Amino acid sequence: MSRLIIVSNRTPGKGPAAGGLAVALRKTLAERDGFWFGWSGKLVDAPEAEARFEEIDGLTVAQIDLTRNDHHAYYAGFSNSILWPSFHLRLDLATIEGHWYEGYRRVNAQFAKALRPLLRKDDVIWVHDYHLIPLASELRHLGLRNRMGFYLHIPFPTTDALYAIPHHNELMRDLSRYDIVGMQAQRDVAAFTEFSDHQSPSSLSGPPLKSVNFSTTEVAAFPIGSDPEAFARLSVTPAATKMVKRMERAMGDQKLILGVDRLDYSKGLPQRVEAYEKLLANNAQFRRNVHLLQVAPPSRDTIKEYQETSDTLDAMCGHVMGRFAEPDWQPLTYVKRAYGQPSLAGLYRLARVGLVTPLRDGMNLVAHEYVASQNPEDPGVLVLSRFAGAAEIFEEALQVNPFDTDETAEALRLALEMPLDERKARWQSLMAAARRHNIDNWATSFLGRLSPEAAQEEGGAARDILYLASVA
Ligand code: G6P
Repeated sequence: MSRLIIVSNRTPGKGPAAGGLAVALRKTLAERDGFWFGWSGKLVDAPEAEARFEEIDGLTVAQIDLTRNDHHAYYAGFSNSILWPSFHLRLDLATIEGHWYEGYRRVNAQFAKALRPLLRKDDVIWVHDYHLIPLASELRHLGLRNRMGFYLHIPFPTTDALYAIPHHNELMRDLSRYDIVGMQAQRDVAAFTEFSDHQSPSSLSGPPLKSVNFSTTEVAAFPIGSDPEAFARLSVTPAATKMVKRMERAMGDQKLILGVDRLDYSKGLPQRVEAYEKLLANNAQFRRNVHLLQVAPPSRDTIKEYQETSDTLDAMCGHVMGRFAEPDWQPLTYVKRAYGQPSLAGLYRLARVGLVTPLRDGMNLVAHEYVASQNPEDPGVLVLSRFAGAAEIFEEALQVNPFDTDETAEALRLALEMPLDERKARWQSLMAAARRHNIDNWATSFLGRLSPEAAQEEGGAARDILYLASVA
């Protein structure tokens, strides 16, 4: 079997992972030959051209350093102040500074240059996420003809939002240099198709112009999942139970409503707290009987919009405390810290309600992990945003419009009052969906399409000629 090379901005670390990506891919690579390539996390004045290899928890990881200026333009700038907000349809929060594109491009070229000498002819390359859209183009410029796949972990934007991104045409041409582009949900493929069928209808004089040729790129939805069996086991380990005991001591009989999210404006945290406030305001019976725990590890906190989200949330949590807390009862706890998987699994299992209400999200693995961690005899209820990719998977969740805080408050009430029979029935179908869409099936189906054998079936020779033409 050919080696698998995974490329992503962040490589797997040793501490608790805030995002789902590292958790998801660790398992895939542990089962095949190959290595993981990415940024070391270090900023230096003059990075070495060659990557350094290291073994991290049984994985072979090759890393490069970046300069501070390039990293700023590539990561905080183009990736997270332009691509992230635009792809999440938050153009109001984007900072359009076109010059960041140069740093973004430079870092992608640096990745390609350091990766090129490490590659063999039949290696399969799997690139992850919006930081690295141009990587295939850069590698193909260096003469690489290997199979290359790209997986977008975040939603694909609407056409207007895409056109707001500087250099969007180049980025879309870069996307067409991959053999396979995987998206989280059907809605993302539909948005992509809408764009690729029409493409920059900007000419005043003629019919719509199709400037990017996607005929050799397969674009399809491959919804990511978790490892539900592992989470189910983890949720009853001593480490998880320790967290459950701690919480039970603090909460007594109160029902727990739990949110776990990176502190990001796409997660809808202020709307969530507002919905909780409405729940308490409209349903006095829940006061002293429920508790909201929001775990929100800080993220990208050099970016102003993230700092503002954090400040907003501080103020809103303070407001709800001031309005409802009593000397011996607090309505909520807000923790700005990352927890390891065992503690989270324990919290998920304890929570009567898993509150997952992003305004827009690629998939949302917290929804998967919450479902997987439930006690089958007494499961909790998933309240889920219909704008998360997970909404296509989890039809039996209580789905809400996260912008409508009345609706979310009502869903919370229904979840808290839901009889055991209904909770069990809903959970069984959610768990079946989590099992069907597990991480192994995700990787196997993507890599099955990306394998050289799949290419031969589709007539790889014709494709090679096209690559040569595009390199020239
Ligand atoms: C999302 C992205 C990932 C990213 C993670 C954490 O899940 O899709 O690519 O790694 O957030 O964000 P950070 O900026 O800290 O890497």
